[in-house]
Amino acid sequence: MIICANFKANKTRQETQAYMAVVESFVSANDISDTVIVFPPFTALEHDPRNVLIGVQNAYPVRNGAYTGEIALEQLEEFGIKTILIGHSERRHVIGETQELISEKFRFFAEQGFAIVYCVGEPLEIREEGSSALMEYIERQCEGIDLSYPDLIVAYEPVWAIGTGLTPSLRDIELIHGALRAKTSAPLLYGGSVKVENAHDIMKLDNVDGVLVGSAALSANDFCDMIAQATELNTEKGE
Ligand code: PGA
Repeated sequence: MIICANFKANKTRQETQAYMAVVESFVSANDISDTVIVFPPFTALEHDPRNVLIGVQNAYPVRNGAYTGEIALEQLEEFGIKTILIGHSERRHVIGETQELISEKFRFFAEQGFAIVYCVGEPLEIREEGSSALMEYIERQCEGIDLSYPDLIVAYEPVWAIGTGLTPSLRDIELIHGALRAKTSAPLLYGGSVKVENAHDIMKLDNVDGVLVGSAALSANDFCDMIAQATELNTEKGE
């Protein structure tokens, strides 16, 4: 299983250090072999990793250069960061990243051998159009993306479920993950209002290999609880 925490623009450097201390000790004390990744803000990327990976939420697809407000490969290398989130719904819909820029980021960081958590997911109006519109939308979000990239993790995160407390039904998650499975052998995460109370049921589904958690992962204890749930499921799912 793969369990990820996306902090977005939350937590200071100091708060992240305290958080990482809790999660690192939990993971080592419980011999957790699942992959745990935390995506803190840029200012808190510095971490001496033991059992938990640190990934970056965004970066510009160049080594360095005149890109005001961005960070690039050189800055990530300094902190030993080799994991990146690309295509998150807030980058697409709030910041306005196009599929062209997203696929450029994907190509660049794939060439650099990064582990890439690539996010897809539909807005509510597309979901309301039905399942073929939904899959066509996700298909377009995969344009220019190498779905056979070996270090790829795909996260399905419906836009309307992110930060809203709403989630698709378990059946819907399973159907969409099944359709994604037909397109890629990469591990598939679900994201969008995952919390302690629903993580187990979601991770138990076929073709769900983990979760990407925003708000509910801001509490280190809740995040550890979800890691423990994932670990329990390994035996059940035969992983
Ligand atoms: P949420 O965010 O868990 O707060 O819905 C998930 C995400 O944006 O990755």
